Amino acid sequence: MNILVAGGAGYIGSHTCVALLEAGHTVIVADNLCNSRTKALERVKQITNNEITFYQIDVTDEVAVNTVFGNHSIDGVIHFAGFKAVGESVSQPLAYYYNNVVSTMVLSKACQKYKVNRFIFSSSATVYGENTVPFVETMKLLPTSNPYGETKAMSERILTDIAKVNSDWLVALLRYFNPVGAHESGLIGEAPTGIPNNLMPYITQVAKGKLAKLRIFGSDYPTVDGTGVRDYIHVMDLAEGHVAALDKLTKGVHIYNLGTGHGISVLQLVRAFKEANGLDLPYELTDRRPGDISECYADVTKAERELGWTAKRDLVDMCRDAWRFEKNYEG
Ligand code: NAD
Ligand code: WQD
Repeated sequence: MNILVAGGAGYIGSHTCVALLEAGHTVIVADNLCNSRTKALERVKQITNNEITFYQIDVTDEVAVNTVFGNHSIDGVIHFAGFKAVGESVSQPLAYYYNNVVSTMVLSKACQKYKVNRFIFSSSATVYGENTVPFVETMKLLPTSNPYGETKAMSERILTDIAKVNSDWLVALLRYFNPVGAHESGLIGEAPTGIPNNLMPYITQVAKGKLAKLRIFGSDYPTVDGTGVRDYIHVMDLAEGHVAALDKLTKGVHIYNLGTGHGISVLQLVRAFKEANGLDLPYELTDRRPGDISECYADVTKAERELGWTAKRDLVDMCRDAWRFEKNYEG
């Protein structure tokens, strides 16, 4: 299939381009490079020995998006393009609502116009808010404490309503848990600008000596060791989940959790990272981070059953691959 990957130069998008190309799909990337560089796409080509057509456009720009749809016979869209920093979404709500929601509307409008009926959307476990773990797709969504989460819930709603009047649409709302790691080549990975907000890139930067020590946010949660629990998933497993969704999707709107189904604490992740890479990692226990929940992990039975997809890589793979990328990364 010819797949338009919006936000394909980014962290999850670039890994998904690898998985798509390796599965024999053709990839067209639309990205404005606001949080990525074309180097990632060069690396994807190097890994797969394949070509990618690239458009440097903003996917909230309807004219530019229509040009891409007019130039190619597109079979499906995967929409990764969006802002993702939870804290920033609190201080810049308008930018988040605009970018994340308008991009969904412009891309789906083009799909309607050009009769493209496959749409895969990058949602987030954040939409579950303070539900009880494990999170199941049928749960009622709870308000999140930040505009970022609301943009994901709104986009899900918009796509669901559009699909109701387009009975031939096949829509997947993929709720990602905590993607970490990198392609095993070490050529592409997560390269946040500035000080990382997320745990794994913070850990790899401490290991590299770019940051002095990890601060573990909270040691009094009602968890196995008092630190927060998350469902970390290798980014290549996540990428392969998109290929499975493309292959197996049926008509209608389908929601899938993409996680491993296992909760791992911050201290367990730190220990795994040290052991996998034979490195020391200085850390201190500090106060909880505002807005954090205690535990977040998925029930993954629906994706296993309907997509035939399951995460294959373990915590050691995640830690080793994340470090291999960081070690070689030159900024
Ligand atoms: P990323 O920032 O690395 O990738 C997003 C890409 O979209 C970047 O290349 C950026 O330049 C591009 N982009 C943003 N706005 C755009 C626009 N208006 N037009 C064109 N390009 C635009 O982020 P990521 O981690 O790869 O996340 C991809 C998607 O998955 C996002 O929608 C994010 O909200 C969602 N998600 C991410 C995580 C995570 O922890 N990384 C978890 C759940 C959901
Ligand atoms: C993981 C754990 C922290 C940094 C966020 C978004 C979510 C999704 C994924 C996009 C928590 C602890 C972290 C640090 C720490 N993104 N931590 N020290 O918060 O689960 O999810 O990213 O959709 O929407 O909210 O991920 O990696 O920030 O934190 O102790 O320096 O690590 O408290 O327990 P989070 P995270």
